[in-house]
Amino acid sequence: MAEKFINIKLKIWRQKDSKSAGKFVEYPLSNVSTDSSFLEMLDLLNESLVEKGEEPVAFDHDCREGICGMCSLFINGEAHGPDRGVTTCQLHMRMFKDGETITIEPFRASPFPVIKDLVVDRTPFDRIMQKGGFVSVNTSGNTQDANALPVPKADADKAFDAATCIGCGACVATCKNASAMLFVSAKVSQMALLPQGRVEAKERVLNMVHQMDMEGFGNCTNTGACEVECPKGISLENIARMNREYLKAVATSEEH
Ligand code: SF4
Ligand code: FES
Repeated sequence: MAEKFINIKLKIWRQKDSKSAGKFVEYPLSNVSTDSSFLEMLDLLNESLVEKGEEPVAFDHDCREGICGMCSLFINGEAHGPDRGVTTCQLHMRMFKDGETITIEPFRASPFPVIKDLVVDRTPFDRIMQKGGFVSVNTSGNTQDANALPVPKADADKAFDAATCIGCGACVATCKNASAMLFVSAKVSQMALLPQGRVEAKERVLNMVHQMDMEGFGNCTNTGACEVECPKGISLENIARMNREYLKAVATSEEH
């Protein structure tokens, strides 16, 4: 598609810090290349704000290639904007029309409070990971080769699919219950499907689900919006697997 230049109006959520009230502020922006990415467009806006001596818009980003999961923006009412299977940094301005007003908000969910403008605090995900998003391996010289344990191809593929979750939080922001079940189930599944992950499977699912509840995420009511908006196509099948893992762990736990 040939490069074009469009004029747009941005309606952006500005908020000084977590304690201040926020509000939408409008910014016109002209001559935006349709080949530029959404974040490059925001860079352009920020350059013009700095030139005018105004405060630039704070937004999260790091890799800018769909890997780190930092670019958490709600664009025209959708997590990561109108394209499918992409993060905000992979979204291109060719998805928008000349003259369009584009509304940009931070991810909205009470466990993810706004830190500033479009930046939210997603450390609840880190705390959930610290409760079990790993396998414990003794590295003192007698570690088995990873390929010494045969893994059926179908399981390896499913584990790999689950492992593509980048922890962006779009599933939470999209869900009417602010549920983190898609994220947590991806992290539980990627281990549960592999023999290396079975060793700690029971404690993992119990501890991660407990931490998810402690952080204030809501429950899953099978709406499926998370799967639609997930940039990595994480399947709802993982939630069903996590529920099975959880029930099995509760049923065989000594306290029950
Ligand atoms: S499940 Fe998808 S939407 Fe949720 S954190 Fe992982 S990659 Fe992001
Ligand atoms: S900036 Fe890393 S996924 Fe978008």
